[in-house]
Amino acid sequence: MEVRLQKLIAGTGLSSRRKAELLIASGRVSVNGKVVTELGTKVDPDRDHVKVDGKHLMSAQPFVYLMLNKPKNVMSTLDDPGGRTTVKDFLRGVSVRVFPVGRLDFDSEGLMLLTNNGELAQALLHPRYHVPKTYLIKVKGALNNEEIAHLERGVRLEDGMTSPAHVKKVRKVEANSWLEITIREGRKHQVKRMLEAIRHPVLKLVRVRMGPISLGNLEPGEFRFLTDREANSLRELVDERRALVERGEELVPTPKRPVRGEGWAKPGRSKKFSGKKEKVA
Ligand code: URA
Repeated sequence: MEVRLQKLIAGTGLSSRRKAELLIASGRVSVNGKVVTELGTKVDPDRDHVKVDGKHLMSAQPFVYLMLNKPKNVMSTLDDPGGRTTVKDFLRGVSVRVFPVGRLDFDSEGLMLLTNNGELAQALLHPRYHVPKTYLIKVKGALNNEEIAHLERGVRLEDGMTSPAHVKKVRKVEANSWLEITIREGRKHQVKRMLEAIRHPVLKLVRVRMGPISLGNLEPGEFRFLTDREANSLRELVDERRALVERGEELVPTPKRPVRGEGWAKPGRSKKFSGKKEKVA
C-alpha cells in the first residue's frame, strides 16, 4: 500500500513529518537509488527501497498481519474493563502489538484480522471502500425467496436502508436454516438487525471471509500469520479502492441480482458447509 514519502519517514520515528519534508526537499532522500525531492511522492514501504543520507530506512516495526478464529463469548477488543476474555488472550507468543480490524459481537465467531498497520486497517474499515464481509449464519426458520430478495435489495433499519447484499441458501436444519450473507457495510450488529427485521433472528453467526481473506479451516481460538500472498492481496484491494475513490469512481455496491438457487442444499452436498458441519450445526 502506497504512502507519502514524508509520512513513511516520520512513521519510522526518524524525524517529524515537517523535518522529513525538509530532508526530502534538500535531496537527502532516495527511492530505489534515485534522489527524490518532490514532497508528494508515494512509495510502497513493502517494495520500495528508501534511503536517507545513503542509509536504508528501517521501519520502526515491520508490519505484521494475522488472522484469528474468534470463539464465541470472547471480546473482540484487546482489553475489557469487565475482565472478560479478549482476543489478546489467544495471541500467545505474538510479541508485536497488533490491533483488531473491526469488531465482532461478543457472541459472534470467526475471522478477525489483526495488524500493526493502522493505515491498512483503517482503509479496510472505511465505509467508502465497501470491503465485502461474508457471514455464515444460522437463523430461526427458513427464508423464502421473497425474504431473501428483500435482504438482497436492502432492509429498512432504524439507521437507514442497508445497501444491496448477497444471500446464499446453505442448509435447513430441522426448524432452522443456515445462510451465507455478504454485506459491504459495517454497521453495528448489522447482520443480526437485518435478519431481525424480517423476523428470522440470528441464532449463530460466523464471519468466514473479509475481502480476499478466508477463514479456511482455522479452529476457534487458533490464529496464524497471513501468507505474503494474503497480505499483498489486502494491500492491493485497498490500493485499488483508494484509486477508485480518488478518481471519483466510487464503487457502488453491487446491484440486486436474481435469487440464485431455488432450493436448499441437501445435507452433506454443500462442499463449503460440510467441513464445518459438526461444529456449526
Ligand atoms: N453483524 C452482526 O450482527 N454481528 C457481528 O458480530 C458481525 C456482523
